[in-house]
Amino acid sequence: PGKADVVVVANRLPVDISVDAKGKLSWDRAPGGLVTALAPVMRARKGAWVGWSGKPDLDVDAFDADGMHLVPVELSATEVEDYYEGFSNGTLWPLYHDVIVNPEFHRAWWNAYDAVNRRFAEAAANAAAKGATVWVHDYQLQLVPALLRKLRPDVTIGWFNHIPFPPVEIFSQLPWRERVLDGLLGADLLGFQRSWDAENFLRSVRRLTSEKVRGSRVTVEARSKLPARETKVGVYPISIDTQSFQELAASEEVGKRALEIRAELGNPDVLLLGVDRLDYTKGIRHRLKIFGELLRDGLVKAPEVCMVQVASPSRERVEQYKTLRDEVEVTVGRINGDYSALGRAPVHYLHQTFPMEEMAALYRAADVMLVTSLRDGMNLVAKEFVAAQVDLDGVLVLSEFTGAADDLPQALVMNPHDIEGAKRVVMRAIEMPKAEKRRRMRALRRRVARDDVAAWADRFFDDLAAAKKEHRD
Ligand code: G6P
Repeated sequence: PGKADVVVVANRLPVDISVDAKGKLSWDRAPGGLVTALAPVMRARKGAWVGWSGKPDLDVDAFDADGMHLVPVELSATEVEDYYEGFSNGTLWPLYHDVIVNPEFHRAWWNAYDAVNRRFAEAAANAAAKGATVWVHDYQLQLVPALLRKLRPDVTIGWFNHIPFPPVEIFSQLPWRERVLDGLLGADLLGFQRSWDAENFLRSVRRLTSEKVRGSRVTVEARSKLPARETKVGVYPISIDTQSFQELAASEEVGKRALEIRAELGNPDVLLLGVDRLDYTKGIRHRLKIFGELLRDGLVKAPEVCMVQVASPSRERVEQYKTLRDEVEVTVGRINGDYSALGRAPVHYLHQTFPMEEMAALYRAADVMLVTSLRDGMNLVAKEFVAAQVDLDGVLVLSEFTGAADDLPQALVMNPHDIEGAKRVVMRAIEMPKAEKRRRMRALRRRVARDDVAAWADRFFDDLAAAKKEHRD
């Protein structure tokens, strides 16, 4: 098979694969900004995408789909437990998100992470043409850059972290911290969401390795037959496919559905909305506490003011996610028990995943969007909400602990830990005069229209090409 000039390596493939009883394979494009962003580039440049199918023990040969060459990496059931649920989501995820829950450190998880990263690196090495550009994604694959460089010194390697990078004081807890830094320093360009993520990374390199840091560059000493080289560090806040989301939201069907949603909720005066994966980083409990206290204090009245919380199922076999689900569901039950009228509950909790059309309609139906993450790499929901406000009448309340807070300064920025302060911010959103809403939303929409996901991918690819060239010169 032909080798690709551009290779994306990510934990997940950009399609959902299903195999029927007869063993026949079919696929659907997986939802998500990364796929939309990279699909055009991949098609134009005959790219390959290396990733896991999302199912244990699924052995599928490489195939072409959606104009891309897809290279599935198989994970055994044990590897799913140790590499994906274990090290990626039981160790790194909480460690990189301010230890909101305790990360667990297990050698067996680390060994699986190491082994699976090797498999991804080998698959990428096999898929890449001579001198190809390989773009590795996210915390699940931090060892791939160095492993790939050993196998294929000819390729240009970029890595982008979709989640935060922790301060060195927290990162240092990781028993394999030097190995992780070493893995990342195999890249020509390392991309982060916010400047403090990049700064945290550089501080960790300074403190925990012997490599030299100069500004945003790390000089990596010669090692195991590889000459000395440089790794460049940059900031690339990710975004959404703004135009297509905006068009979807502006469509007649979505407009109708938005009105229907409000009617189904009994035409409340104010509809508050939360949309998240059910994850402890999202501050869902804080959000419920804020709403519960506003009801208790009589500052808002149910059912005139109600809240829809979409919490899509995520990582359901990981212990901390099970605990969170229980806590959220108890809290929703309490609030509804205390403040419901017959047939009219203040909190509509949906532990479900909805198609993009329904999400767009919910965003349009909402008056106030609540993004209360305790820590979030970017938070694309905030940007989707903005893109969906074709009527300019929604208000975005946004946690300062999201990457999006840097990009969306006209949102009402808040601290989810400060419940009293957050209540005031939510009240301000509810009571905001129409002219102010429109002014803020216009500014937000200009930003999200300009800084879309295509601009993000272009900038990363351009800088990656430049980094490689400079290092050669
Ligand atoms: C975050 C991560 C992604 C991940 C996604 C969904 O956005 O940065 O790498 O794919 O969550 O999580 P999941 O574990 O279902 O892939």
